[in-house]
Amino acid sequence: MPLQEKKILICVSGGIAAYKINILVRQLIKQGAEIQILMTPAAQHFVSKLTLSTLSKRPVFSDFYSENDTWNNHVELALWADAILMAPCTANTLAKMMHGQCDNLVIATYLSAKCPVFIAPAMDLDMYQHPSTQQNLALAEDFGHIVIPAETGELASGLSGQGRMAEPETIIDIFCQYFESSKKKSLTGKKVLITAGPTYEAIDPVRFIGNHSSGKMGFALAKAAAERGAEVILVSGPTSELINHQNIRVCPVISAKDMYEEVFKHYDQADMVIASAAVADYAPKEIAVQKIKKNDDSLTIELVKNPDILKTMGAQKKKQFLIGFALETNDEEEHALQKLQKKNLDMIVLNSLRDEGAGFKKDTNKIKILTQSGAREFSLKHKQEVARDILDFAEEQLLK
Ligand code: CTP
Repeated sequence: MPLQEKKILICVSGGIAAYKINILVRQLIKQGAEIQILMTPAAQHFVSKLTLSTLSKRPVFSDFYSENDTWNNHVELALWADAILMAPCTANTLAKMMHGQCDNLVIATYLSAKCPVFIAPAMDLDMYQHPSTQQNLALAEDFGHIVIPAETGELASGLSGQGRMAEPETIIDIFCQYFESSKKKSLTGKKVLITAGPTYEAIDPVRFIGNHSSGKMGFALAKAAAERGAEVILVSGPTSELINHQNIRVCPVISAKDMYEEVFKHYDQADMVIASAAVADYAPKEIAVQKIKKNDDSLTIELVKNPDILKTMGAQKKKQFLIGFALETNDEEEHALQKLQKKNLDMIVLNSLRDEGAGFKKDTNKIKILTQSGAREFSLKHKQEVARDILDFAEEQLLK
């Protein structure tokens, strides 16, 4: 059975689609899963605790305390689960999850969880389309959650459109696929160190020299490596990207010097390093203590070279498989190969700013990977797929 002994915590919130949970619970149990149900206070208007506890063969909790004055430990509940399913997930519960508004047992448990979270939203079509809901769903994906989109059809309001909770069969298929693919964890036991985002080099207390890197590629790589079972250290410069995965530790830094120091705290233990950060090559020699005033017609800031983090890693390489990035505007391959050699890398990922859809702040990227012995070109893809291509290629090289 595909879900044998999988522990699934189902959090039911107050929507009419809660009636489908009875069927879902029965079918999940038939597939071998163990089910624990939590309900928000509003959910109890739509489905009975008695039905759900009978079907799940466990008491259903909805409050921090049970009737006999025992405390329902949200941390224990969260750590017990192999996966959490928020279904149906109302606009209200979704908003509370995304903003940490912890006023019931469901949200406290969700906030304590380290396991994968699946979200099956259900609401009326206009609520679903509202920018606030759409933003919260996008944020949920940024957190690394799996959103099971609402289906289109007749809604409780009598209107018709997108907002129906996905059918139990769809949810079960997604669980089966997830647990099946998580068995093939090719990077289990490996430590992957990733640098991401830009660095900011202070000029004075309010100004800095930075660049347009968004951190999207590095964060996509961290997610892809964590999904393959790696333990990931993500050293990131300032970015608006967010990530929440049990295998990923984010170490935020500001300047190239901070990044250098943080990276070398982890380098010795790393099996693979992916340097996707756009590190500033130079930093102001002096950081003014006070804000610089515009007294003169011109201003000269003396810059000094930053440490080359990747080059230093290359020079100290032992077991590490080193992957660098090269962003070029001309003579792309030649420059990338020079970097591969100069920094003692195992492979380099080349981006050309001449390629439409590649580069900073985009969700897509078009890459070419080069090694000492050859090159492979990839088509324009979403950065998450590009991340998988990079890891597939690296794993192929490691197997050689
Ligand atoms: N890199 C680094 N530390 C630096 C500069 C770059 O770790 N101080 C890494 C980047 O993360 C990237 C690779 O080195 O993986 C290539 O960076 P790039 O700045 O393009 O290379 P440079 O050698 O600095 O060459 P250029 O003259 O083109 O800037």
